[in-house]
Amino acid sequence: MSSATPRTPTLASRLPNVGTTIFTVMSALALERGAVNLGQGFPDFDCDPALLDAVDAAMRAGLNQYPPMAGVPALREAVAAKISALYGHAYDPGREITITAGATQAIITAILALVHPGDEVIVLDPCYDSYEPNIALAGAAAVHVPLTPGTFEPDFARIGAAITPRTRAIVINTPHNPSATVWFAEQMAQLAALLRDTDVIVIADEVYEHMVYDGAQHQSIARFPELAARGVVVSSLGKTYHVTGWKVGYVAAPAPLMDEFRKVHQFNVFTVNTPMQHGVAAYMADASHHLGLAAFYQRKRDRFRAGLAGTRLRLLPSRGSYFQCVDYSQVSDLAEAEFCRWLTTEIGVAAIPLAAFYQGGFEQRIARFCFAKKDETLDLALGRLASL
Ligand SMILES: Cc1ncc(COP(=O)(O)O)c(C=O)c1O
Repeated sequence: MSSATPRTPTLASRLPNVGTTIFTVMSALALERGAVNLGQGFPDFDCDPALLDAVDAAMRAGLNQYPPMAGVPALREAVAAKISALYGHAYDPGREITITAGATQAIITAILALVHPGDEVIVLDPCYDSYEPNIALAGAAAVHVPLTPGTFEPDFARIGAAITPRTRAIVINTPHNPSATVWFAEQMAQLAALLRDTDVIVIADEVYEHMVYDGAQHQSIARFPELAARGVVVSSLGKTYHVTGWKVGYVAAPAPLMDEFRKVHQFNVFTVNTPMQHGVAAYMADASHHLGLAAFYQRKRDRFRAGLAGTRLRLLPSRGSYFQCVDYSQVSDLAEAEFCRWLTTEIGVAAIPLAAFYQGGFEQRIARFCFAKKDETLDLALGRLASL
């Protein structure tokens, strides 16, 4: 027996700039202060009991062992059929669809599989917080290009200027978290034109694809043959069916890209839990479950916006996703993080500062609320916000 003192090796962090996310910080503060949590993006209501029944049936039917690496065939077929029906692109469920542990694993797997050390990946700020660390883990450099302040529209001149011979991919996200904007067909066409003579891969984060409002259509890259040919579509069945904790999502991509994706996927998760895949596949057969989502959330958006209309918060458009951004400059001079902290502790409603989605922060006096909440939760929050 050695008497040496046990020693944990010291090491340099792979992600030295990553700390606790603002979502965790604000959720903890909301809990501590009894605030209504409109910060983090998840529903506070349960899913359709029919979905639970479908998963229960799968478990009781003994579907509890490893599924095929790429996902349960019935679910891949259901995803391919949905994409074909909605966006007109036929992905081969055998070779071009993979089921993932949510969009989060889909995105990091796509980046690790397709991006090499020394490459550059363009991200459009403000953006979801996993992109940058994913790119860093691949040994690549994130090149941050801001969306146009004020409108959050893509600035193709700036995106074009950021493309270099080292650019391997661009990550886009529509409907957009956090700004709640959506890309229009014209913008997708502009992206296709910009990339036409390049080998840049498009990683399209479309987790809010079924939450597009006011009669607009979601512009998936799958609708645009040139973008589909160079693109990886990422979506989240957890977001779509109000079961974010299940962590089930998918990737659709042309076979040469998917072949590489699966090489990494099989060694980082290998497979995604079997009964949820079977349950979701059965539930997806009724298209009204995803097609009804836009109307469901649009009602919540409208309820929330109507409730805020009498305040000094200026409502930004919310065309998609389940977020509503507000400009609070008529209410407070505080910087965004301080304002959100004040809102949580003094008003009793948690929100997220938009600056958290920018590299190095960027102050615009804008906070993001999530309206994926029960009507009574929204009404409780609105009652508290009414004084602003
Ligand atoms: C833009 C965006 N991408 C990806 C994700 C992660 O999705 P999932 O829960 O399926 O991993 C989220 C979750 O908030 C998101 O907002």
